[in-house]
Amino acid sequence: MLIKKPTDIRSSEITDKKLYFNSREFIQAATGTAAAAAAGVLGSEALLHAATPAPHGRKLDNVKKSPLSADERTNKWEEITTYNNYYEFGTDKDEPSMLARNFKPEPWTVTVEGECNNKAAWHLEDILKGQTLEERIYRHRCVEAWSMIIPWVGFPLADFIKKCDPTSKAKFVEFTTLYDPKQMPGVRSPVLRWPYVEGLRMDEAMHPLTILTVGLYGEVLPNQDGAPLRLAVPWKYGFKHIKSIVKIKFVEKQPLNTWQLQASNEYGFYANVNPTVDHPRWSQATERRIGEFLRRKTLMFNGYGDQVASLYAGMDLKRNY
Ligand code: MTE
Repeated sequence: MLIKKPTDIRSSEITDKKLYFNSREFIQAATGTAAAAAAGVLGSEALLHAATPAPHGRKLDNVKKSPLSADERTNKWEEITTYNNYYEFGTDKDEPSMLARNFKPEPWTVTVEGECNNKAAWHLEDILKGQTLEERIYRHRCVEAWSMIIPWVGFPLADFIKKCDPTSKAKFVEFTTLYDPKQMPGVRSPVLRWPYVEGLRMDEAMHPLTILTVGLYGEVLPNQDGAPLRLAVPWKYGFKHIKSIVKIKFVEKQPLNTWQLQASNEYGFYANVNPTVDHPRWSQATERRIGEFLRRKTLMFNGYGDQVASLYAGMDLKRNY
């Protein structure tokens, strides 16, 4: 993103960037000194081990297959859990796999605020009570021009929004990630303005493809992928997929999302995958599917145009990027 452009990302990055030692600059930024980190500020475990795939977690019960799944070969658990953007745990792709190991996603509360009739603090168990979980195999396209196919487990955000009972003033939904400097070393450095915030227009939020995600490959979500609750909006660039959500607020005005705040000339609010609108510093016409050698053509709306193009009828997508 702002930090790395696609040409900076070596195709061998997943396998050869093994040693945490490579991340020493980040540790220094996060803690003041590498010595402080070694003394246990980040946990000595993270310093001694290489990036490793997430441990397997609790199996989720009664997960249904979804007809909305993409019929494509899914990326491996190892790829999905060692190649992450989660700046609260470091700006390198392998850092979240090491620095999120001790993150505690339980117990978890999501506060619902703003223009709705049911403002409340929800325990995650209560959000999930009686909720059917589905496996949704989604194309996941990062603005940095890499992609994966990911078998998320989740449920329509619309199901939860209905429980919150938004008022007629609710035009957008704003999401906020946990901000916890004790658990998240990345937020101790001002690389982004914290906490991470994202937003959707109400019709985007209510769209059946938009899901709140609680699992991966049939198991609870690994920490580095945004445990215990993250968003998946498959026709949008990955930065809309906010992780570890603690607040959902219904608002009248379009929220200012973190990456737009960071660099409004590079990242917009809509962030629809669009091969015809280049990022100012690189092309969006093609992408590198993690695990593949040849680049692929990027598809308009990430291949979900039939389902979502009508949401943007009449809008200038070159201006509303
Ligand atoms: N959410 C938070 N809280 N912090 C982040 O840094 N990165 C975003 C998004 N959600 C990010 C975040 C970006 S840029 C991408 S591409 C996706 O998470 C990556 O999700 P993944 O690691 O599950 O592939």
